[in-house]
Amino acid sequence: GNKNINAKLVLLGDVGTGKSSLVLRFVKGQFVEFQESTIGAAFFSQTLAINDETVKFEIWDTAGQERYHSLAPMYYRGAGAAIIVYDITNQASFIRAKKWVQEIQAQGSSSTVIALAGNKADLLEARQVTPAEAQTYAQENGLFFMETSAKAATNVNEIFYEIAKRLPRA
Ligand code: GTP
Ligand code: MG
Repeated sequence: GNKNINAKLVLLGDVGTGKSSLVLRFVKGQFVEFQESTIGAAFFSQTLAINDETVKFEIWDTAGQERYHSLAPMYYRGAGAAIIVYDITNQASFIRAKKWVQEIQAQGSSSTVIALAGNKADLLEARQVTPAEAQTYAQENGLFFMETSAKAATNVNEIFYEIAKRLPRA
């Protein structure tokens, strides 16, 4: 089979949930406390070696601000994978994440691998969304779910690795 896979990946989710921070952690191994809000979208690429394959992610980090919502289809159409991000300390962001899942499942391609990321898992004392609640939702909707922390570098490489494993092979 093909040992080099290119995958377009899009991050979607409410403003401030940590989409850019997850990408910065994955691509550069860095975290900043005062990450600027994304305008439009930003592009990154990163390669992962998985067994004898190389997966090159072409990553679109979209802006969570509502005024950019109409741009989103440009990024999720034709995407091999989507990471829908919410903030575990913000119930409203979980509700918004479910709306994104609905939109992708209705308007996107049926082959897009969808991951649900409950980010800011380092902020346990401020938690508003339980892992059980998110896991149940993910299972019912055919997604896979992980809690992540861009700050603590928890499950960041892992979520990209899990996506890479699930991408359809030629
Ligand atoms: P938009 O671009 O506006 O849609 O936001 P975003 O989803 O890209 O969020 P961004 O990465 O800009 O992060 C927003 C804020 O949350 C920043 O101040 C980050 O430092 C902080 N943040 C991101 N990830 C984490 C995390 O895992 N833990 C903690 N404690 N803070 C985080
Ligand atoms: Mg951003």
